[in-house]
Amino acid sequence: MSNAASAQKFSSSTFIERTIQFHFPHRIFFTENLFQLGNPLLADILRTSTSSSPVPKALIVLDESLHRVQPTLQSNIENYFAQIRDVVEIPGATMVMEGGERLKNSYFHVSEIHSAIDRYNLDRHSYVIAIGGGALLDVTGLAAATAHRGLRLIRIPSTTLSQADSGVGVKNGINAFGKKNFIGTFAIPVAVINDFALLYSLSPRDRRAGYSEAVKVACIKDAAFFRWIEQNAAALKDFQPDALRQLIHRSAEIHVNHIANGGDPFELGSARPLDFGHWSAHKLEQLSEYSIRHGEAVAIGIALDVVYCRLANLLAPAAAERILVALEALGFELCANELFNVDASGNFMVLKGLEEFRLHLGGHFSVTLLRDIGQSFQADQIDHTLVAAALRELRARSVAAKSVRAPQ
Ligand SMILES: NC(=O)c1ccc[n+]([C@@H]2O[C@H](COP(=O)([O-])OP(=O)(O)OC[C@H]3O[C@@H](n4cnc5c(N)ncnc54)[C@H](O)[C@@H]3O)[C@@H](O)[C@H]2O)c1
Ligand SMILES: [Zn+2]
Repeated sequence: MSNAASAQKFSSSTFIERTIQFHFPHRIFFTENLFQLGNPLLADILRTSTSSSPVPKALIVLDESLHRVQPTLQSNIENYFAQIRDVVEIPGATMVMEGGERLKNSYFHVSEIHSAIDRYNLDRHSYVIAIGGGALLDVTGLAAATAHRGLRLIRIPSTTLSQADSGVGVKNGINAFGKKNFIGTFAIPVAVINDFALLYSLSPRDRRAGYSEAVKVACIKDAAFFRWIEQNAAALKDFQPDALRQLIHRSAEIHVNHIANGGDPFELGSARPLDFGHWSAHKLEQLSEYSIRHGEAVAIGIALDVVYCRLANLLAPAAAERILVALEALGFELCANELFNVDASGNFMVLKGLEEFRLHLGGHFSVTLLRDIGQSFQADQIDHTLVAAALRELRARSVAAKSVRAPQ
């Protein structure tokens, strides 16, 4: 608003108005074997991000599942930092924390990290280095953003989903009151480092889960990327490294482009284009007591919204079918029993996800839907009857697919 316009609006009082400008580079690095001695990337990032002496301190938080399946990682990390003592000091032991969604379901772990930050006298010039899946990054990011009103955060995502999506963004959070990400902040990390070597120990289920976020950004933003996913679906299903790397790189790039250039990095408006397929996915995760992974729920959420768009004559049947086929070719289930849970009045509980989605953001109701592959728009209402029809269609499709796959 111009000063003149402001002055007109608040004509009955005197006031001071200034624009607070800030400029934050948002950097995503891609590497392999980050903690191999001789890989200069992390040391360079720390060196170039730190302007003052004394040498800053850092706290390392490591995902326990990652630690378990890559048992030499912790000693590699510690040896790496021992070699760069002139760049950063590690005053305490590595915090090894349970990964996965359960971590986000209580405030306790945020508090544990706060306590370590206090114990080791970390300050605003210090770093918190989070290495793990999206859940661990969310919890650690919240702790880092709130201790002393914000320490410097370096995120090192270790799942396909977090490298392709959640880890490269600017949000953090934990779940509360039965709702996803109820407590959280926006905080831009100093750097995100995607180390492809961290992914090799993921279970096929977790390696695949992140593909859905790439399909999501392709559907809403980039038809050519969607075509690439279709063409490479078999290689991706087999987790061929080159295909996996390319998918992560492009997905991360589209996400970051949106955050940096989309005009609303802190989601102040009502639109959440990157949350296509998420209104039902978040509810489904909760209905399944988090036994369905976020990425798996997103694949189902995309399928539901795609069928909905086709039933509402918003999306051509051929385009809708291409998206469903691509998700299936990547190995996703497009239906889950929890979608059919009903409340005491017989209404599908998943529909509560629509209101929770609006409440999380505030403002008027707005859900991202598709006009075509690569073209999204914001809808201000959803027809519950059509959602129910889409749910039934997904169930019928899933039953048919299973009967085709079942041994004769
Ligand atoms: N902040 C955001 O902008 C944002 C965006 C999207 C999603 N998210 C959140 O991200 C979370 C999902 O993240 P995720 O898909 O990475 O799952 P996750 O963090 O739940 O990790 C899945 C499992 O894999 C384990 N793990 C992590 N790295 C491993 C490795 N390399 N090898 C073996 N096991 C490993 C974890 O311990 C966990 O048990 C959800 O909580 C979701 O809400 C956040
Ligand atoms: Zn997501």
